[in-house]
Amino acid sequence: MGVRIGELSVSFGRTRVLKEISMEIGDGEFVSLLGASGCGKSTLLKSIAGLLETESGSIEMNGKAMDNISPEKRGTVIVFQDLRLFPHMTAGKNIAFPLSIKKVPKERQKETVKRLLKQVQLSGYENRRIREMSGGQMQRVALARSLAAEPRLLLLDEPFSGLDMRLRMEMGELVRKLHRENGLTTVLVTHDKQEALKFSDRIALMSKGRILQYDTPQEIFRHPVNREVAEYFGRMNYIRDGEREIGVRPFDIRILPSGNDCTVEEIVFMGETVEIRLGTPQGMVYCVMMSKELDEMGVEVGERVGFRVF
Ligand SMILES: Nc1ncnc2c1ncn2[C@@H]1O[C@H](COP(=O)(O)OP(=O)(O)O)[C@@H](O)[C@H]1O
Ligand SMILES: [Mg+2]
Repeated sequence: MGVRIGELSVSFGRTRVLKEISMEIGDGEFVSLLGASGCGKSTLLKSIAGLLETESGSIEMNGKAMDNISPEKRGTVIVFQDLRLFPHMTAGKNIAFPLSIKKVPKERQKETVKRLLKQVQLSGYENRRIREMSGGQMQRVALARSLAAEPRLLLLDEPFSGLDMRLRMEMGELVRKLHRENGLTTVLVTHDKQEALKFSDRIALMSKGRILQYDTPQEIFRHPVNREVAEYFGRMNYIRDGEREIGVRPFDIRILPSGNDCTVEEIVFMGETVEIRLGTPQGMVYCVMMSKELDEMGVEVGERVGFRVF
C-alpha cells in the first residue's frame, strides 16, 4: 500500500512535535524513520496508524484520504517495543487473537498460526506460553501476530531496541525476509543508523519534528544535504581545499608513510579497524583504516607522515 503524507503537523498542547512533514512511501517499500530520541518518529508512525489527532495536513493511503478513517479500517498494524502480548496465553492463542476477533473459522485460524509460526522460525511453539519464552521468541510471536491481521502496511516502533546486538540484527533480517516474502509496505522506526542503512530502501532522517533528508541509504550516506545529516552517520573531517571546504569521512583518508607534514597523535584500536588522529597543517584530521593495514605500514604514534583524500 502506498502512503502519501502532505504537510502534516502534530502538536501536544502548545508544543509542535511534527512540523509540516511531507513524504511518500511507495507500495511495497521498506522505509526507516531514523533520528534521535524525541525527534517525532513515534508521533509520525502513530499518525499514520490513525492513533493520534493531527493538527493539519493530509495522509493518504492508496490515494484515499484517511481523515475520518479509524485505525482498524486503515489496513495498518503497529508493533511497539513493549509488544503487548498476553503473557498467560500460548503463542498460538496470541497469534490467533486478531483472527478470533474477525470470527475466522477455528480450522483456518489453526492453519494460519502454523504458517506464521513457520515464517518467524518458531514451528512447533503453538502451545508454549508467552511468559515461558525468551525475549527474542516473544518478538517473533509479536511479529507473527501482526502479520495474522493481514496488514497492508506494517509499522514497527523500535520493536528490537531492547534486544542485544546479535538478536537485534537477527530480528532485523527476519523482518526484511518477511517484507520480501509478503511484499508488505513496511515502516521501521529506529535510532540505530546501522539498522536503517542495512534494511531500508529509503531512510527519512528526522530532527526536531522535521525530515532533514529522505533518500536511499547510499545517497544519504554519500551525498548528505548538510553537515547535520553527514554527522549523524559518523565523524566527518572538514578540510580546506582552495576556496572550498570539503567534508571527508575518516575511511576516505589515506595515510602516506613517505610524507612528513603531519604527526600521528593518537591510534585507537577498535578491532578490525583503527582510528588515527593526525595533526596536520589544516588542523586535526581523523583517519580510519583496517588495523592489519596499519600493522603492515608500521606507523606509530609520534611519527611524521602525510595524508591524502582517497
Ligand atoms: N502524548 C504526548 N503528550 C505530550 N507530549 C508528547 C506525547 N507523545 C510524545 N510527546 C513529545 O513529543 C516529542 C516527540 O516524541 P516521539 O514522537 O515519541 O519521539 P521519538 O519517537 O522520535 O523518540 C517528544 O518531545 C515527546 O516528549
Ligand atoms: Mg519513539
